[in-house]
Amino acid sequence: MDRQVKFVEPAKLYGMIKEELDAAYYEVMSKGDLIDRGQLKRFEENLAAFVGTKYAVGLNSGYDALHMSLRAAGIGAGDAVIVPAHTFVATASAVVNVGARPVLVDVGKDFNIDCDRVEELLATADRDGEGRIKAIIPVHLSGYMADMARVMELAERYRLVVIEDACQSLGAGMERTNTVHRQQQAGGDRQEETGAHHEARRRRKKLAKQSGDLFGEATGAVAIGAAAPKATVTGSVSPAPEKISDGWGRAGSWGLTGCWSFYPFKILGGYGDGGAITTNNPEIALFATRMRYNGEDRQTGEYHGHGFTCLLDNLQAAFLDVKLRYLPQWIIRRQAIAARYRAALSDLSDLLLPHYDDPRRDHVYQNYTVRSRQGNDFSEYLKSRGVEVLTQFRKPYYRHEALKLEDRDFPETEALSREVCSLPMNVEIADDEVDYVITVVRSFYGKT
Ligand SMILES: Cc1ncc(COP(=O)(O)O)c(C=O)c1O
Repeated sequence: MDRQVKFVEPAKLYGMIKEELDAAYYEVMSKGDLIDRGQLKRFEENLAAFVGTKYAVGLNSGYDALHMSLRAAGIGAGDAVIVPAHTFVATASAVVNVGARPVLVDVGKDFNIDCDRVEELLATADRDGEGRIKAIIPVHLSGYMADMARVMELAERYRLVVIEDACQSLGAGMERTNTVHRQQQAGGDRQEETGAHHEARRRRKKLAKQSGDLFGEATGAVAIGAAAPKATVTGSVSPAPEKISDGWGRAGSWGLTGCWSFYPFKILGGYGDGGAITTNNPEIALFATRMRYNGEDRQTGEYHGHGFTCLLDNLQAAFLDVKLRYLPQWIIRRQAIAARYRAALSDLSDLLLPHYDDPRRDHVYQNYTVRSRQGNDFSEYLKSRGVEVLTQFRKPYYRHEALKLEDRDFPETEALSREVCSLPMNVEIADDEVDYVITVVRSFYGKT
């Protein structure tokens, strides 16, 4: 094997911003600021500003963000929730774990939920009875948003709560047309309350009554996470956060909540697990802020319900805040690598590349996932030549027997599961490494 190209190189990335990460570590450790301190508030504020929402609430993982969102929306036993057939299992597990039923829908060519199929399903589904579809979780896979204009339109028509699984797409965006409402605004600005949001609030109150959980009654603007005063950044030489252009809606700012994962190999990865929700809705933010801390209001010490332990660590928040400032320039680097792959590989007819040329959406390339007609032969060949690749998800999650999920006919998911192969895509990779990957891919197809 002549050389090796890693899928990701966390130690190399650490070396690139070592001074700032070390300073963040020192600041936290020297003061003993471990739980719920300034670094967390600062990160939440910066994350909310980056996504374009009023609030961000730091949690322990992307799974927690999904779980918390469903609970905050009052989704539980007897409800059904639409999820894509092709996603990380956590999307469906969060639904199952609140007692609801995931209704799987196939994806389209861009790996995201197929809105035509969602519409077909909603048109024929029972709208009133027990087991009614109450929510949809569009997943923005690999750095590319689901068609949120369409999702929001359907959600409004069928009174669905929208929870965005944006775990793989921090920084991705889509054009926001005037006809599309943000569900999150509904909570923040009462007069615009949508049917779906009203339904979510009503249901949350009902559940709250049943469980003695007072979150259902939380109202009005409150001082929570993201609204805390800005702390000073020490030793920072990193770039300033960028502005979002008008008419553009970032992933995580469309639905009732956006759910984020800061798992180490995400586009914004920590040094351990981490997650967050973003929202414009003060009730949802307050709910998550209390529930992540076992239901406790940190100001008064009052428990407002049976909660969880899923607070984002202060140290992780400090690291993430350093990295967040680099994200805009890192996205540009990812897009440049994607363009290099595209220029060199688009003549290969057995390879489908992740370029969709939709002017309404951009791609931030959390993953550069190609589809090869040769499936495993292709991915194994790359590995044998030293190119580390990921083949998520060869076995669709609904095929895992223990999960007891519906295994219907999902032709696109079935086909792409056999064909997916994610090429090395990260900010630490050098151009000559990208070129080596290209050479190996081309040589598999007998081309120079
Ligand atoms: C699409 C998607 N949803 C949910 C999750 C769950 O995030 P976490 O691993 O932080 O719980 C992930 C991360 O792996 C993901 O990629």
